[in-house]
Amino acid sequence: MSPKIPFNNLALQWDEVSAAAQADIQALFVNSAFSGGRYVEAFERDIAAWLGTPHAIACSSGTAALHLAMVAAGIGPGDEVLVPAHTFIATIWGVLYVGATPVLCDVEDATGNIDAADAARRVTGRTRAIIPVHLYGQPADLGAVQALAQAHGLKVIEDNAQAIGARYDGVSLGCHGLMGCFSFYPGKNLGAAGEGGLVTTADDALAERLRRLRNHGQSERYIHAEVGFNYRMDGIQGIVLRHKLPRLADWTARRKQLAAAYAEGLAGLPLRLPETRHQDHVWHLHVVRAPERDALRAALTAAGIETGLHYPVPNHRQPCLAGLASDPRGYPVSEAWAEQGLSLPLFAGMTDAQLDQAIAAIRAFFAGR
Ligand SMILES: Cc1ncc(COP(=O)(O)O)c(C=O)c1O
Repeated sequence: MSPKIPFNNLALQWDEVSAAAQADIQALFVNSAFSGGRYVEAFERDIAAWLGTPHAIACSSGTAALHLAMVAAGIGPGDEVLVPAHTFIATIWGVLYVGATPVLCDVEDATGNIDAADAARRVTGRTRAIIPVHLYGQPADLGAVQALAQAHGLKVIEDNAQAIGARYDGVSLGCHGLMGCFSFYPGKNLGAAGEGGLVTTADDALAERLRRLRNHGQSERYIHAEVGFNYRMDGIQGIVLRHKLPRLADWTARRKQLAAAYAEGLAGLPLRLPETRHQDHVWHLHVVRAPERDALRAALTAAGIETGLHYPVPNHRQPCLAGLASDPRGYPVSEAWAEQGLSLPLFAGMTDAQLDQAIAAIRAFFAGR
């Protein structure tokens, strides 16, 4: 049985753009701009202007974006990179792909974002960079992160897979560090019809290198100036994303409305509601914390309400990172987020009636305890 209230409904976004996008997709098959090419370039121009960044380099996924950023930042074997323990593992892949060492840091209790004070305690003579993740749609504490980076000469590379459009000090997330990395995985606030990613930077030389790296390291056709990757964005993704981009502000406004309604509807329950601490929140995910998380989730599933877990196993417990997990200081806050976090349905096309039903089901669960 499909849930009464799905966790997300991507078909609704497609409905809003399909007429215009389909005409471009038809043209793409005629002019064969399948890989990179004019549609991707047009999207790059639009999103650079939308974000207010000099350079936007589209690529094949958020993971590819993070890998490209690590290579372009010159991170390599022997280097350490500070990353949050509580994030999707892809934040860490790029560090590992270049042979560097991810140093996991605990996160803030209030937001789930990297705790700059904990990160400061983990800096060594080998630390070269920090990757703040703007988790769930809320900026990390960029003031504290930038201060730490300045004190130790660290490069800041933002993982902005989840918070496109959010601002900090009036500047778009992804435009605060040396580079910003974005994901357009279908379920993201701006989602492709498949995989997609982006790196932003204000540095002209870095931008040129990123463009080269994503395209087999080619400086000119069939001249491979350095070892590169096939990380180009598909033309069809450029089309879909370019047509969706002008709708994103409205979709984000609806997400904010829904989050405010959840806050009101769930007030007074023995739940920790999400806190907006760092200026802005675009509500990619609406994560509450409940000590009885699994029982609540089961009750909601039984009521036809789909929920998610982001993320149930913190990175210091991931098998592939076993060698890193020996830090005696541990990650108590990341553990709490993993054990108690429950993502409630929240998507741009969610109706007031669906929201009321979700709130009623959560209230019914606690009324029955
Ligand atoms: C925080 C974070 N970083 C990186 C990624 C990787 O993006 P992608 O799935 O496009 O490779 C994602 C999303 O999947 C993510 O949520």
